[in-house]
Amino acid sequence: MIACGGAELINVEDFGIHEGISEVIFTTISPDGIPNAAPMGLHRKGGRLFARIYNSKTLENIMSKPVAAANIVDDPVLFVQSALSDAEPERFEYVEDFPVLKDAMGWILFECKCKKGETISVVELSPVKGKITTRKLKPVNRGFNAVIEASIYATRYVVFREQKYLEHIEYYNSIVKKCGGAREKKAMELLYELVGLKND
Ligand SMILES: Cc1cc2nc3c(=O)[nH]c(=O)nc-3n(C[C@H](O)[C@H](O)[C@H](O)COP(=O)(O)O)c2cc1C
Repeated sequence: MIACGGAELINVEDFGIHEGISEVIFTTISPDGIPNAAPMGLHRKGGRLFARIYNSKTLENIMSKPVAAANIVDDPVLFVQSALSDAEPERFEYVEDFPVLKDAMGWILFECKCKKGETISVVELSPVKGKITTRKLKPVNRGFNAVIEASIYATRYVVFREQKYLEHIEYYNSIVKKCGGAREKKAMELLYELVGLKND
């Protein structure tokens, strides 16, 4: 386990955060102390770290307390659950009163500076501290990747209810059936249930 603190001590490369967009789960806290978890893209471009966040619980929480933890997670069920409903309270643990996910392989705590937009806001992220709990070998699994893609389309489907998103979900479901393991299949079952669709 590696724990580090102080922005100058945190090298996000050590956390596997490379140039581009890494899919992580952001944890935040509401003014009345309720923890929240939601998948978000963590953008790294040049020296910049930021997120582009639509109006959501995560954004509200960051506006009231400008701190977020990027949890590095490899559980497809947790991605689906936190995208389409709420992670249960027992999924969280607290580091100096701030929620992170118990099952994260590691997390980075950020100070946030929010440039509020009408529908989407850009949140600049400065690392404050971080912890690496597990370093697992994770061979690429198309089933896992397909769950991530399907859950992005599912978050759009629940807002816009457009047929094209359903078609994407069904396509990715066929890959999960072919390449996924038990956890990926369970994640897709949960996705269909939370979106109110039949998975046959
Ligand atoms: C893999 C993945 C990545 C996502 N990335 C973003 C993102 O970068 N910005 C965003 O606003 N929503 C993103 N979403 C959608 C949010 O997670 C989703 O709208 C969620 O319900 C917001 O939850 P909240 O209201 O609890 O914050 C993503 C979803 C998934 C599955």
